[in-house]
Amino acid sequence: MIQQSNTFILENTQVKDEVVNWVNEVAALCQPKSIHWVDGSQKEYDGLCQYLVKKGTFIPLNPEKRPNSFACFSDPSDVARVEDKTFICSRRKEDAGPTNNWMDPKEMKKVLNSHLEGSMKGRTLYVIPFCMGPLGSSYSRYGVQITDSEYVVVNMRIMTRMGENVLPYIPKKEFVKCLHSVGDPVQTGKPESVWPCNPEVKYISHFPEDRMIISYGSGYGGNALMGKKCFALRIGSVMGREEGWLAEHMLIMGVESPDKQKTYVAAAFPSACGKTNFAMLIPPKEFNGWKITTVGDDIAWIHKAGDGHLFAINPEAGYFGVAPGTNYKTNPNAMESIKSNTIFTNVAITKDKDVWWEGMTEEIPEGLTDWHGQPWDPTSGKPAAHANSRFTAPAYQNPAVDCKWDDPKGVQIDGFIFGGRRSTGVPLVYQSFNWNFGVYLATTMGSETTAAAFGEVGKVRRDPFAMLPFMGYHIGDYVNNWLQFGRNLPNAPRIFGVNWFRKDENGKFLWPGFGDNIRVLIWIVQRLRGQASSVESPLGWMPRYEDLDWTGLESFTKQDFEKIMTIEREPGKQELLGHEELFERMYDKLPKEFFFMRELLLSALWRSPEKWGLQPEL
Ligand code: GTP
Ligand code: SPV
Ligand code: MN
Repeated sequence: MIQQSNTFILENTQVKDEVVNWVNEVAALCQPKSIHWVDGSQKEYDGLCQYLVKKGTFIPLNPEKRPNSFACFSDPSDVARVEDKTFICSRRKEDAGPTNNWMDPKEMKKVLNSHLEGSMKGRTLYVIPFCMGPLGSSYSRYGVQITDSEYVVVNMRIMTRMGENVLPYIPKKEFVKCLHSVGDPVQTGKPESVWPCNPEVKYISHFPEDRMIISYGSGYGGNALMGKKCFALRIGSVMGREEGWLAEHMLIMGVESPDKQKTYVAAAFPSACGKTNFAMLIPPKEFNGWKITTVGDDIAWIHKAGDGHLFAINPEAGYFGVAPGTNYKTNPNAMESIKSNTIFTNVAITKDKDVWWEGMTEEIPEGLTDWHGQPWDPTSGKPAAHANSRFTAPAYQNPAVDCKWDDPKGVQIDGFIFGGRRSTGVPLVYQSFNWNFGVYLATTMGSETTAAAFGEVGKVRRDPFAMLPFMGYHIGDYVNNWLQFGRNLPNAPRIFGVNWFRKDENGKFLWPGFGDNIRVLIWIVQRLRGQASSVESPLGWMPRYEDLDWTGLESFTKQDFEKIMTIEREPGKQELLGHEELFERMYDKLPKEFFFMRELLLSALWRSPEKWGLQPEL
């Protein structure tokens, strides 16, 4: 018999037998030394952190500077999501579509079983009941994660509502089974690795029909904290499609104007393209009375309410945010959120046991330990913190957290914003002509790849709805689902495109970004309220220089504005060729409207001056 602790938390729950049977099945396969039922208490959390310190995984940070916080370094093979090892194992290959890796579920289970057999030897199996969304909300969904990683348990406590309190809410047969093993091959007899993982074999596999996820070999972020991308997006998108709601890679923010009117918008940017920063934006001091509040920074679940409006919840309870570039100028709210009770992964550590990363301070502290745990050599040309180093912090620590962030009803969404990371060609902001054009723009969105996923960085790829790595089913069905969703809305939210990342010929950002993004956001919100003007461009409606508020940024001239707003015919045509490439891949499910919209865009480019925007009316 395997020793079990905390089994009492199962008493009086509807799912006791179901969960116990599944856990026993997994335990028989993975052969852990013991089983711990996670109650979610502070005491348990503290105990696990102390255990990780003893093992050498966690480095306790200076309690005077960063109370109750820890840093850790991952294995160099385990620093980001692994898209080429991520699979949608739907029964039919067609259901996974052309943008997902697919393997037959039976085959995949065979492969996984061979790796999982005995994979937890010498370790504890933790059972984490968790809830995605506000407890008790009809929009929330439930999961149970099994894991052999203490790092995962403590991160899940920050990122989700989890533990004893959640169990009574879980309805019978309605929880997502999330099985995770770090798959450290060096187990029996030897001391455990500081960052256990399997450096060679990793599988992040989703079984949509079984509502099950099995993740093997990685202990990092989106691969291992399974409430996040695996459940809330990949399985979530499948559930949403069947049940009539949307699971999206979107932040949710409240925008309050000086007259105290509040509008909520949701925005989808690909990984490491600015969601956390935008969701926590603090306007420059000249914008007295404008206030941004955060509902969520990464994921939105969007439902149609009876009144024909859309309502969104943030299924998460914390932020797993990109560290590099975060500082008191660019994102003070994030800096405040991570002052205590935070876990840092792959950042650098200072002499006095605080954290540091590239872009945190202008002056680089002396005597840094880099993310490999080695003394950092500033002349090495290598960063001290990994480009995808992250903080895990509770949402309630954000000074700008929205008063409705935990509201079971969610918040009413009036606008959608889509934005990629594009050095060239794509203008700062535009409003799509209508819902269908908006769906087209979101589908064909291109973005340069970032360090959030393993692989080449800086390469433009199509990233439909910023969901390319997170779609749980066929991209064609996904796009049609969005078109259909809008058809039934009496007053569909308006759709906008933005690009904060356009550069000049010397590679310098043309737009100041961060807090100054409020200038664009105000125009967007005023458009939603019918209060701002615009001109027609080949892409949609665009603000003129005088339509944005330049107070405090007078140095940004009309010519500077033209540089970030121009639409050029030749690059525009190249972009449309890129659309064609995506369309060819999704051919049999491509909405017929899209052919016409592409033609319309092409003819608009031809009709316009070669460089649209360098004209008097803008
Ligand atoms: P994920 O957590 O991976 O989904 O990322 P995210 O979309 O939340 O991105 P995040 O806000 O963490 O930003 C990623 C990187 O982009 C950070 O290094 C930021 O400093 C940088 N960034 C964010 N907003 C802006 C901006 O407006 N302008 C510029 N130039 N950089 C930005
Ligand atoms: C992303 O890559 O979009 C993230 C980080 O938000 S992870 O949780 O690793 O997916
Ligand atoms: Mn993300």
